Amino acid sequence: MIADRVRIDSYHEAIQRCVKPGDIVVDLGTGTGILSMFAAQRKPAQVYAIEHGMIIETAKEMARLNGTDCINFVKSHSKNFATNEKVDVILHEQMGEKLFDENMIDNICDLRDRLLRPGGKILPSCFDLFIEPLSLKDEYRIPLLHQHDDVHGISYARLGSSRKRIDGDSIKIEKSLQRLIKRCEADRFLCIPEGIYSIDLATVNRADVPKRIVYRKTFASDGLMDGLCMYFRVRFDDTLAFDTSPFSANTSWNPVLIRLETQAVRAGDVIECDWDVLDIADIGTWTLRYRIFPGGTAAQAPFSSSAVSVSSAGRGH
Ligand SMILES: C[S@@+](CC[C@H](N)C(=O)[O-])C[C@H]1O[C@@H](n2cnc3c(N)ncnc32)[C@H](O)[C@@H]1O
Repeated sequence: MIADRVRIDSYHEAIQRCVKPGDIVVDLGTGTGILSMFAAQRKPAQVYAIEHGMIIETAKEMARLNGTDCINFVKSHSKNFATNEKVDVILHEQMGEKLFDENMIDNICDLRDRLLRPGGKILPSCFDLFIEPLSLKDEYRIPLLHQHDDVHGISYARLGSSRKRIDGDSIKIEKSLQRLIKRCEADRFLCIPEGIYSIDLATVNRADVPKRIVYRKTFASDGLMDGLCMYFRVRFDDTLAFDTSPFSANTSWNPVLIRLETQAVRAGDVIECDWDVLDIADIGTWTLRYRIFPGGTAAQAPFSSSAVSVSSAGRGH
């Protein structure tokens, strides 16, 4: 992860901009200690480097070897950590490949509510989640199980007919449907990318995290839709951000492909996606209903279900 220059350079710049001399800083999940050591370069009063894993020993050694003396290493889960003084800045790198799958919201909200001074900063605090229809390059279009109809005379084709998706059916996003992809596998997005859910950890209430996300997107070009590609954007401030799109610079986070039956689509068709998000931190608990409306016949139609809260980021397609 230290080798991921997009990540490291963005965090270094953000810390330069945000941490001020005399600040009290908490680094949640310090790992190898890199963010704490960047913060220490800003002459803070104190950096608390919290880590519940054994890697904290490496971080301590690195700080010693680099002559950094204002870091207080605490081997603890963040929920068991407390200070007497209020904190000016919370640093963290709690994003998983599926953005929320490392319990970021819960851990950061807990520290924020207990320790952050009013007006204090969380770095980073703003994130956008994307789930975009994706076309794979031909050579990476691995057939689904039921599409193998002659494996040395053995056929899985019958499986297909019994598992065929009925339009609008719920699909549980079980492990077999999720695959991390390398950037070279992706051919193109079929719609113009737009975040479907945005969160600001500085203000979010855990109770407000959505249980359902619904949006429509219009296909911008003809092509084969192989699935939906999940990635995220991290925004440190208005001018400093990076994302994990398959078409952006490589990072240590790979995009996630939610593999669907490959389907031909045409420019102007509309896809409606309706996600049940039981636990936002575990996409294994999510279910998807999607429908494709040829020629955008859905443009005027109501969403497939009533009482739906439409994500503002996805509205208007
Ligand atoms: C992805 S690593 C990030 C390491 C480091 N911050 C960096 O930027 O290189 C996340 C680290 O956070 C630790 N961690 C995750 N949740 C934690 C928690 N609630 N309390 C303490 N440590 C935590 C993990 O053990 C892991 O070492």
